Amino acid sequence: MSSSPQTSPQKPLEVTIRQLREGDLPAADRVMRLAFGTFLGMPDPLKFMGDADYVRTRWRADPSAAIAAEVGGELAGTNFVTRWGSVGFFGPLTIRPDFWDRGIAQQLLRPTMGLFEKWGVRHAGLFTFANSPKHVNLYQKFGFWPRFLTSLMEISVPKDAAPAPKRWARFSDLFAGDKELCLQACRKLTNSIYEGLDVQREIRAVDAQKLGDTVLTWGGGELTGFAVCHAGPGSEAGSEKCYIKFAAVRSGPNAAQEFRRLLDACREFARSRGANSLSAGVNLARLDAYREMLDAGFQVARQGILMERNGAPGYNRPGVFLIDDWR
Ligand SMILES: CC(C)(COP(=O)(O)OP(=O)(O)OC[C@H]1O[C@@H](n2cnc3c(N)ncnc32)[C@H](O)[C@@H]1OP(=O)(O)O)[C@@H](O)C(=O)NCCC(=O)NCCS
Repeated sequence: MSSSPQTSPQKPLEVTIRQLREGDLPAADRVMRLAFGTFLGMPDPLKFMGDADYVRTRWRADPSAAIAAEVGGELAGTNFVTRWGSVGFFGPLTIRPDFWDRGIAQQLLRPTMGLFEKWGVRHAGLFTFANSPKHVNLYQKFGFWPRFLTSLMEISVPKDAAPAPKRWARFSDLFAGDKELCLQACRKLTNSIYEGLDVQREIRAVDAQKLGDTVLTWGGGELTGFAVCHAGPGSEAGSEKCYIKFAAVRSGPNAAQEFRRLLDACREFARSRGANSLSAGVNLARLDAYREMLDAGFQVARQGILMERNGAPGYNRPGVFLIDDWR
């Protein structure tokens, strides 16, 4: 009788799902870096993202939307959920590698769907690795379908360029009352692109946590565009880098021109912060925005896939000059 090697079935894990607490942040940061670094095959996985940060910035932006999974008293994984008005997305979702394929991500995704439900978001999605059947399959179970690629793009920031006349403003320079008026103007602009889209959470987080600044462009007494920029260590950009987390210009006949002006303003802002590079992600369904970025000199550094609930396109359509990547 021949005996074949048998793998004993793994015992089901006892997983506790709860809100992520401030005291968890060092462990959560470690799990996030270890998970991505391991998945990407880095020799030292903990070096993933260098001195850039997702965990603390996103927890501080909204602690009630950060979910933890605990096994045997230890942190096994986390997920961060973001609400932009009528739009919601999640990530980074990370599980400690020794717990992979034990269903923990799915346990974190159930309350994530609950938050979308509670918030009443109309459009929801995530950004993931386009080449991973595991990732795509996992999210499909929750009704998210792969759509267009999102390009993560970069442009260098010359240190010695002659200073251009400043045609933009910084949110951080405004007085408190003017900040509220400016947030209203930003909301009006994004609402004209997708009903209910409101990124005030990002603008406030960058301002309160001093992660960078929001670059504002005005014309004819109205806000024509804005860009929420992270810059430097401890932000989502990292040392000597600037990252546009969200940017949009008002739709209309001058949108392409205004978008170019906003990109130039972001580059100037990046230079003012001593950054060597400026990065920004754009979904390729926003073809006009992508082409304008290529024309401006941005190059594609990496690509991932956007997955959207029920395959709905949200604001991902040509003619929308908007930057975000839901990383
Ligand atoms: C991606 C990640 C969050 C998944 O976490 P996890 O706890 O291992 O996921 P789960 O066990 O809940 O679910 C994985 C599912 O994919 C399935 N799967 C695994 N490999 C697969 C493959 N090659 N093709 C298709 N499906 C696959 C599993 O079988 C499981 O489904 P099942 O429960 O129906 O069997 C985790 O691997 C991780 O942290 N990766 C590194 C960081 C990362 O990439 N985060 C996500 C960024 S979008």
